[in-house]
Amino acid sequence: MDQATQAAWLSRTLRHLEAGTTDQGDAVTRIGVERYIDPAFLAREQAGVFRRLPIAAGFSARLPQPGDFATHSHLGLPLLLVRGQDGGINAYLNVCRHRGARLVQERAGCGKHSFSCPYHAWTYGADGRLLSLPHEVAFGDLDKAAHGLVRLPAAEAFGLIFVLPDPAGDLDLETFLGPLRRDMESFGLGQHVVYDDREIGLRCNWKVVIEGGLETYHVRHAHSRTIAPMFLDNVSVMERFGRHARLYFTKREARRLRGQPLDGLSVRDFGNPLYFFFPNLIILVQPDHATVMITHPTGTDGCTIQGAALIPEPAQSDKARQHWDKNVKIFWDALDEDFQMGQSIQAGFRSGANSHITFGRFEHPCGWFHAALDEAMQP
Ligand code: FES
Ligand SMILES: [Fe+2]
Repeated sequence: MDQATQAAWLSRTLRHLEAGTTDQGDAVTRIGVERYIDPAFLAREQAGVFRRLPIAAGFSARLPQPGDFATHSHLGLPLLLVRGQDGGINAYLNVCRHRGARLVQERAGCGKHSFSCPYHAWTYGADGRLLSLPHEVAFGDLDKAAHGLVRLPAAEAFGLIFVLPDPAGDLDLETFLGPLRRDMESFGLGQHVVYDDREIGLRCNWKVVIEGGLETYHVRHAHSRTIAPMFLDNVSVMERFGRHARLYFTKREARRLRGQPLDGLSVRDFGNPLYFFFPNLIILVQPDHATVMITHPTGTDGCTIQGAALIPEPAQSDKARQHWDKNVKIFWDALDEDFQMGQSIQAGFRSGANSHITFGRFEHPCGWFHAALDEAMQP
C-alpha cells in the first residue's frame, strides 16, 4: 500500500475518532432470505460466478519446488495443482483420460514428475502430457497428444494460486485483481510461508461467512470475550474497487495518532487492513503477517473454508512457534465466534422468521457484495 493511501487512511481514522463517526453507506440494504437457501440461486451462483471467475485455490508456498502437488475438490471439480519444471503453476482436472478415474489420490506430495492412474496405469507428466499406457497396441492409433490431462487456466499472485474452473476460459488475473494487486504485493505475501493451514466445514451458506468479514458493527458484541478490546468500536474505513473492497478496522492504538505527523506511519501499526476479492477471498493484514480465508460453497447450507496464516519466514525456534501459535489462536478463536453465529443465522433462515435480512449503513460493504453478485451472475 503506498504511503499516500496510508496517510489518507490514518487521517480519515483520526477524523472519525474526533467526530465519533465511521465510514457509512447512503442507504439500508434488504436482502431476500431465498438467496441463502434456494438451490436454484446456488446453481446460478455456481454457473455464473464460481465457474466463470478466477477462484483462489491454494497457497503458492505449499508447492515451492517443481513436482510439488496438491489435490482437492473445493472448486466443485476434482483439481490437481502441480508446480512445473519452469517454476510455473499447472492446474488440471484430476481425472484420467482413459475411463475417468481420479488420477491422484494423495492430498499433497512433493518432487513428483509423473502421475500414474491407479486403475490401468496410464501415466501423465507434470506438464499434463500422456506419457505412456500399458499395452498401447490395444488402443489402435490413439492420439496421445489429444489425451493429456485437461488443463485449467491458473496463475499466482501475492502467495495465492488462482484457478479459472473452465478449461475453455481465459484467465486475465491482472485485470481481475485490478489496482488492489499492487497493494497486496506491497505486503510481500508472495515471499511468505504458510503456517497452520486448515480446512473448516461449516453449516451455513458461503455468503454468511463473507458478510461476517465485511463489517465491524458486530465486533463489540460478538467478540466481547476475545478480540473486541483490541479494536475501536465501529471505526472503519471502507473502499470499494469494482467488485472487490479494501477495508480498515482500527485498533485502540489509533488513539495515539492524535497530535502526531501521519507521514511515514504504517497503517498496520494502528489497525488491520482487510482485502476482499470477489467472490470468496478475504485477506486480513496484521502487523507482522496475514491471514487468508477462501470460502467455497458446498451446498445452500454448507461451505468449506481454506484458511492459513502467511508469515514472513519459517518458524524455526520454539519462541517463533509460540509467537505464531498465539497469533493464530487469537484469530481462529475469534473466527469461531463468527462461525457459530453464521450457523445460527443459517438455521434462522430456515425458520421462516424473516423474508429478508437488513444491512444497515455501517454494514454497507455487505450491500456492495450482493450488488457485485447480482452483476456477476448476469448472463
Ligand atoms: S481409468 Fe485411468 S488408466 Fe484406466
Ligand atoms: Fe467477526
